[in-house]
Amino acid sequence: MASNLMYLTALASLASQVFSQQQIITSPHTTPDQNSVTQWISGPDAFDGPKVIPINQTTFDWWYFDTVQEPNANGESGQPSFAITFHSTGPDGFDPLTGLFPFGSPPSDNLIQINLAWPDGKTDAWVLAGGEAIFTINGDGTSANYTGTGCSFEGAPDLSEYSVYIDAPEKGIVGSLRIKSDVPPHYPCGPAEEGQDMQITPGVGWLNAIPDGYGEADFLIRGNEEFYFEGRGYHDHNYGGRRFSESCASAYWGHGRLGEWNIVWLSVLTPTGEESVSAYVTKGSEMASTEIIVAQCEGIHIRPYGANSTYPPDTTTGAPTGFRMNINTPEGLFELQAERIYVTVDFDFYRRFTGTYTGTLNGEPLPEGVALWEQFSIGE
Ligand SMILES: *[C@@H]1O[C@H](CO)[C@@H](O)[C@H](O)[C@H]1NC(C)=O
Ligand SMILES: *[C@@H]1O[C@H](CO)[C@@H](O)[C@H](O)[C@H]1NC(C)=O
Ligand SMILES: *[C@@H]1O[C@H](CO)[C@@H](O)[C@H](O)[C@H]1NC(C)=O
Repeated sequence: MASNLMYLTALASLASQVFSQQQIITSPHTTPDQNSVTQWISGPDAFDGPKVIPINQTTFDWWYFDTVQEPNANGESGQPSFAITFHSTGPDGFDPLTGLFPFGSPPSDNLIQINLAWPDGKTDAWVLAGGEAIFTINGDGTSANYTGTGCSFEGAPDLSEYSVYIDAPEKGIVGSLRIKSDVPPHYPCGPAEEGQDMQITPGVGWLNAIPDGYGEADFLIRGNEEFYFEGRGYHDHNYGGRRFSESCASAYWGHGRLGEWNIVWLSVLTPTGEESVSAYVTKGSEMASTEIIVAQCEGIHIRPYGANSTYPPDTTTGAPTGFRMNINTPEGLFELQAERIYVTVDFDFYRRFTGTYTGTLNGEPLPEGVALWEQFSIGE
């Protein structure tokens, strides 16, 4: 019996590997008057696959990857970081980004945004416009080739690892980012299971394939400047069924690690002022021994503090000193503070930060850690 069962299981997994391979191509320009089909409830597999098919004028889908060095790593001051986003967006889909192009009209729907911060805080940024984007779903992972940009990514079928490749010597960047997961994936309100609501706020979906892991950035910039560091890596994926600004007026998001604790936080305010939140807390330093403490869309309160801590933020609010958050969990109350070292992206409507992550659990100090976070402030 046992061997028959094993045989059947092996057959079934072979079959699912074969059948779950699927290719989706997003053309560089939408066809007018096309309706997108948007998936809001999670399926049995294809965790990280495209969720909006096809992309039309007002919809969007993006895959985001980052890595940040821990403060004082190897006794060095400074905090290098790297982030890249693979966007597929209609001209009126992810409108904070497309609005940056002349007449709000990017040359392609398939856009790559790259930001890096050097150890001393100096920044470099690129936006690359591609031809077709070819997505291949394999198990829960997804790989993509943004043709014409030299950029691609490759995801393991079990989401244990992602690699991002950039080969754009003419733009001054060549190299790769590798992220190896230490923490299970999740959705806004629960673990990575079938039947979960993937909306973080009405109209916007969010899924987090790698909430925390080992990250390694290895690039050559402008042909001769070496950019290499190891740190904490992260990968998530957002999408929307209408213009982003119709769903979101402001948002705070971030991820961090303090010792054995990993935290991912999110708070979104709609244009009419309703707040949605998500809190993800895990305990453990490697995948095999990591347990989920909370994966929920409640029990977290996140607010800016210090300079420029107006709430809710708008386009005239500058960069806040940092963020404080309280998270209620079965292990007790986390009181945490993300304090910035660098502003790595600095637009009126969008800022990204890296810094230290400190705090207490039930009043007891936690080890000092690292975080990377952002603020959207789109509202008037
Ligand atoms: C895009 O598709 C959505 C359905 O997901 C639809 O509501 C919207 O009207 C479409 N946009 C355009 C410009 O056709
Ligand atoms: C992406 O597609 C282009 C054009 O078809 C091809 O030349 C390139 O080798 C592909 N890259 C990867 C990583 O598959
Ligand atoms: C507050 O925001 C203003 C306007 O963006 C900026 O000039 C200032 O440096 C910010 N303050 C701090 C402490 O970052």
